[in-house]
Amino acid sequence: LKKINVGVVGATGVVGETFLSILEEREFPVGELRLFASENSQGMKRRFHDQEIPVQTLAEGVFNGLDLVFFSSGDDISAKWAPKAVAAGAFAVDNSAAFRMNPEVQLSVPEVNGDLLPKALAGANPIIIANPNCSTIQLVVALAPLQKKFGLKSVRVASYQSVSGAGRAGLEELFASTKVALEGESLAPSVFPKTIAFDSIPQIGSFMSGGADDGFCTEELKIMNETCKILRAPNLPVSAFTVRVPTLNSHAEAVWVTLERSPSTKEEIESCLAQGAGIELMPLYGKGQNGAALAKGPAQYPTQAMASGQDPVYVGRVHRDRNDANTWMMWVVSDNLRKGAALNGLQIAEQLFDITPRA
Ligand SMILES: NC(=O)c1ccc[n+]([C@@H]2O[C@H](COP(=O)([O-])OP(=O)(O)OC[C@H]3O[C@@H](n4cnc5c(N)ncnc54)[C@H](OP(=O)(O)O)[C@@H]3O)[C@@H](O)[C@H]2O)c1
Repeated sequence: LKKINVGVVGATGVVGETFLSILEEREFPVGELRLFASENSQGMKRRFHDQEIPVQTLAEGVFNGLDLVFFSSGDDISAKWAPKAVAAGAFAVDNSAAFRMNPEVQLSVPEVNGDLLPKALAGANPIIIANPNCSTIQLVVALAPLQKKFGLKSVRVASYQSVSGAGRAGLEELFASTKVALEGESLAPSVFPKTIAFDSIPQIGSFMSGGADDGFCTEELKIMNETCKILRAPNLPVSAFTVRVPTLNSHAEAVWVTLERSPSTKEEIESCLAQGAGIELMPLYGKGQNGAALAKGPAQYPTQAMASGQDPVYVGRVHRDRNDANTWMMWVVSDNLRKGAALNGLQIAEQLFDITPRA
């Protein structure tokens, strides 16, 4: 099996560290591994299998000899350095938003539109492939089987997003502000626009993106635009409302999906979701021995803490909207650092290099 020389830019961040774990877990055939971060991490090392690998800063020529570079350091760094990785002969899988809506760039969720990815081992030229926004990825994984079987008419989604979505600094701000709040004090926020301890914030990113003053924030625009691109449905109405909540990890979404052809029973829609790639369906009353939904029992559904550290996109609370027979509601939960970032990035690489992951 060909060994692949891999770079990880942003290796000391929460997504970068998740990349290192998942590369190990899935036994990706790594040859040389080069790790990059900012000057603040100079002198640091990260463990990969039994090796201690030094963290380097970015400089001209650092990508020479690499086959694949994962970028997880932010838009500006990707915009500058991903084209340099490609020029040096490496495929660049980019977690930032820098290239996602560029019509020349693939925006990939392998279960949904992986058929568009080139085959590196068949001699395809290196390119940049964009990894979608974390909230978008779990949404399109849940929508894809419904789109295929029943057709989509419109989608509405309200998100409940964990602080790890804002990186290590987001986690630290939740810990620090909670500790201070328990002592009866308050801490001025710096990562989030308001204090996150014991509260929810209906803003992720900034308002007035591109000068538009229509009340949407940038995270909502990412979900709306990227969903249409990935599902190859440019005219699909998608409406998103995003909220930061004081949970540590995993994002949850309440989704209303209106279908072109609605099934008559919940069992039909649940069976379609259960067969969808990457989905773990959680029927309300649990599953029997043969995997079929049970008729009654204690209520079951995914939560953010439960989904953390797991790979699937969990779907629960599936039920028909009382006000519209063609509209179905569901609760979609997934780990934003895994399927929402590093796992999806690695699945892209597995498809590019035709690698079967460890089961
Ligand atoms: N968190 C998520 O759920 C999530 C999901 C999808 C996509 N993403 C995207 O993934 C990227 C990383 O997010 P994160 O959550 O992992 O953030 P993070 O925890 O803040 O990590 C940022 C990483 O970027 C590095 N970095 C900063 N400036 C750099 C520079 N000048 N040169 C090289 N490296 C530099 C940092 O290095 P130091 O440690 O040295 O500062 C750190 O390794 C972002 O583009 C984010 O939008 C995040």
